[in-house]
Amino acid sequence: MIIAVINNKGGVGKTTTTVHVGYALAQQGKRILCVDMDGQANLLMHLFDLNKVYELEDEQHLPTNTILHHASGIDVLPLSYWEADRRQYVKAVQKAAAKYDITLIDCPPSLEERTKAALEAADSVLIPTEAEDFAVNGLARLLRLCNEQNKHIAGVVVTQFDKKITAHNIFLRQIASTFPAYFIDAIVPRSAVFPAASAMRRTGYEWNGKRANAALEAYNHIATALIQQLQGASAV
Ligand SMILES: Nc1ncnc2c1ncn2[C@@H]1O[C@H](COP(=O)(O)OP(=O)(O)OP(=O)(O)O)[C@@H](O)[C@H]1O
Ligand SMILES: [Mg+2]
Repeated sequence: MIIAVINNKGGVGKTTTTVHVGYALAQQGKRILCVDMDGQANLLMHLFDLNKVYELEDEQHLPTNTILHHASGIDVLPLSYWEADRRQYVKAVQKAAAKYDITLIDCPPSLEERTKAALEAADSVLIPTEAEDFAVNGLARLLRLCNEQNKHIAGVVVTQFDKKITAHNIFLRQIASTFPAYFIDAIVPRSAVFPAASAMRRTGYEWNGKRANAALEAYNHIATALIQQLQGASAV
């Protein structure tokens, strides 16, 4: 099962969602591959030492031969620095994904060739969004595109939510009521755990330890919702 984590809007939590849903799924016993499909290489930078990331940037060999193992149990396919065409990206992702239960693709913040390749390679899409103005418009267009491509929509996830911000509450209600079929009712609040964990090249779960954290709990719920959907479709 391949899930593209997609939104052409920048900074909405695609990379954070890929890493943390990936980790939560791995904790539930699934073999997980995360693909860094974004030229910004933020997923690689979140999880690995920067020297390692720069090494990858310099390497000339086909990155499709490289799988990185993170201490958290997540495997990573680094495609960020690989300039290829859509067909090659699709093939590379699908070949690597065959060894895993679930592959999550972290997409760039635009509908560029890499995103289109991720969409083509994927069975399903997961869409993170902030509860902000224009989100509904953007989501409607993105959902239409996914439907046109006959992709299953795993859900829309609201991230970086701050209940003290009135606009967030307004737009959360708007998103939930406009897309009831897709809205995943596990909202990820803002939490300082994510930037801190990323600075330490770890997942928020590893950084946070056993302390309660609502944002990490939300990602656990999202992972559970995905497994339930996939089991319903007998895909994992
Ligand atoms: N729930 C959250 N609480 C606080 N900070 C968050 C949360 N989710 C993400 N962030 C932070 O917000 C920033 C953007 O998140 P992230 O990189 O996941 O978004 P993105 O959609 O992948 O961005 P891009 O479009 O540039 O790829 C990062 O610094 C990340 O640590
Ligand atoms: Mg990103």
